[in-house]
Amino acid sequence: MDIRDEINQLKKEKDAVILAHYYVRPEVQEIADYTGDSFYLSRTAEKLTSKVLVFAGVSFMGESAKLLNPEKVVLMPDLSADCAMAHMADAGTIRKMRDTYEDLAVVCYINSTAELKRHSDVCVTSANAVKIVRELPNKNIFFIPDRNLARFVAAKVPEKHFVFNAGYCPVHEEMKREEIERLKLRHPEAPVLVHPECPAAICDMADYVGSTSGIIRYAGESSAREFIICTESGVRCELQKQDPDKVFYFPDTEPVCKDMKLITLEKIRDVLRTGENALQAEEGSASRAREPLERMLALAAKQEKGVE
Ligand code: 13P
Ligand code: SF4
Repeated sequence: MDIRDEINQLKKEKDAVILAHYYVRPEVQEIADYTGDSFYLSRTAEKLTSKVLVFAGVSFMGESAKLLNPEKVVLMPDLSADCAMAHMADAGTIRKMRDTYEDLAVVCYINSTAELKRHSDVCVTSANAVKIVRELPNKNIFFIPDRNLARFVAAKVPEKHFVFNAGYCPVHEEMKREEIERLKLRHPEAPVLVHPECPAAICDMADYVGSTSGIIRYAGESSAREFIICTESGVRCELQKQDPDKVFYFPDTEPVCKDMKLITLEKIRDVLRTGENALQAEEGSASRAREPLERMLALAAKQEKGVE
């Protein structure tokens, strides 16, 4: 039997759905029931009624889904698929910042471990960070772990005082100004669309800076026919599906998140078959890690409704 048929049959038998991030392999995005960026996936995971969620993504994504749905079975196709940035902050520094600054909010990018979330006040994703930080009553913001997203948000919310942390995404950090300059010379008509996890030198060259879904939306709505895309190259799948006739150029050193690419159809089939790699719901302290996620979803929902 074709592996896709096997997966679809197992999904029905086990009452399972597959959620996939835009950075996973194209064949995994194609078989998924829900494909999106981190915000879309966390919001969707919270609303699903199926018993089993298979999370085609890295560990912080599955962990967030489990925190929001402790009663559901969350299966990870590969438990070793992790995000390096998710570990680039620590509880000791958070405590020190709380002692140093009075009116402080610890804002935690969702790309972080549950342990970091447990010590934070609110989560954000790249799609909602600016709006959520603007809404916070606090003057001082300690933004963890990503210094690049923090810098982007700080520029948009100048009324707040930001304390920066040294974390970064190795995939986005790798992009070099010279390679984007070369692409711009070759394709002068192409707008440059950049993820805010990129360093300042790349964001400064952008026609648009936004989350993965923001980049996809911008390309879809634009009348341009070609684009320079500065984010992980897995987004090519959705960009091309949306507009088969548009052309997308990526930096020559194509940005690839190796952890996202660990997820394969075979591993999805295997966890569906065996039930292995199910995330455990922790007692007590886990609910503390859930709070900043729930606060993010509540603030985002309020903003979508236009409620002040
Ligand atoms: P978004 O899904 O928020 O665009 O984040 C990108 C990312 O690095 C996910 O790991
Ligand atoms: Fe983490 Fe970067 Fe990979 Fe996203 S692309 S999962 S931030 S390492």
